[in-house]
Amino acid sequence: MASWSIANAPFQTSRAPSVSPPPNSIPRHQKSAALFSARECSPCDCPLRIGNVNVHRGAPKVSNRKRAARRSPVILMATGKPEPLKIMISGAPAAGKGTQCELIVRKYGLVHIAAGDLLRAEVAAGTENGKRAKEYMEKGSLVPDEIVVTMVKERLAQQDAQEKGWLLDGYPRSLSQATALENLGIRPDLFLLLDVPEEILVDRVVGRRLDPVTGKIYHLKFSPPEKDEIAQRLTQRFDDTEEKVKLRLKTHQKNVEDVLAIYESVMKKVDGNRPKEQVFEEIDAALAQVLQQKQDASRETSVLSGH
Ligand code: AP5
Repeated sequence: MASWSIANAPFQTSRAPSVSPPPNSIPRHQKSAALFSARECSPCDCPLRIGNVNVHRGAPKVSNRKRAARRSPVILMATGKPEPLKIMISGAPAAGKGTQCELIVRKYGLVHIAAGDLLRAEVAAGTENGKRAKEYMEKGSLVPDEIVVTMVKERLAQQDAQEKGWLLDGYPRSLSQATALENLGIRPDLFLLLDVPEEILVDRVVGRRLDPVTGKIYHLKFSPPEKDEIAQRLTQRFDDTEEKVKLRLKTHQKNVEDVLAIYESVMKKVDGNRPKEQVFEEIDAALAQVLQQKQDASRETSVLSGH
């Protein structure tokens, strides 16, 4: 859907954004056609375009009602900008969600919201929520919804995520979390599922290291640090042990089907058991396709609904 601003509108519809170009940007002969109430105008074959945005397909027939509407015009404004991407990424522990998110963010500039990172920040800050969350994270269980749901919901609502689009990593992980988002009308354009065999996952977890300075994810074997200086400062997550990853895997298996059922229509399963560049290539192609669809839809929406 395109981004629209509607000024001075006596009514608004969800499908029919009102469009009014800045006065000086419209050729004089087109101005009268641009200033009318969206509900009042009727279609004809004469296209009115502002930039590359279709505003109206023709001058309205002028009736008394329409003259009245012109006296109190809806100011119609189209930015013609598609809504930003909304992506979810899911997969078992160490399936490569964080690694792919780094690559996605670099190319698409989305705001990366990782439930695990938000929780670890609370743990590090020693907040009440953090103390409670750590008990569950240590056991490889899901942190209760009353902590996680609000945290993610508030982060999604922030301006950067609204403007740049978001990449939700590791959320939702249960039916109740997915339902909470559905109830808020929050749905992704694409739900990516990274598929990696279990026997690979344990190795990935045990060898994972994090750079506290850049936040970059490394693996001692598969993705070692570029310099000694980095190697020396790498840290390991408190839940990255063989014992704990097995518990996390069980939690994942118990919940994953419920979540997939909700996002089936927008789901793309990606084989994550390949070099990270190859995995990203497939994800990149899927994102480019979704972005293209959104741009096309935005162009179509730029034509006033019903015109
Ligand atoms: P979270 O931090 O989300 O952990 P996770 O889901 O277990 O996933 P990971 O972060 O371990 O793995 P990843 O898929 O991001 O893999 P990565 O790219 O790092 O959650 C932690 C805990 O928080 C949970 O257990 C739970 O308690 C709680 N929690 C989180 N979300 C919650 C929610 N919604 N509700 C309730 N509680 C929640 O890669 C792993 C390693 O593999 C790295 O070393 C990397 O270099 C390597 N690697 C990546 N890709 C490849 C590749 N293609 N080939 C070879 N190596 C690779």
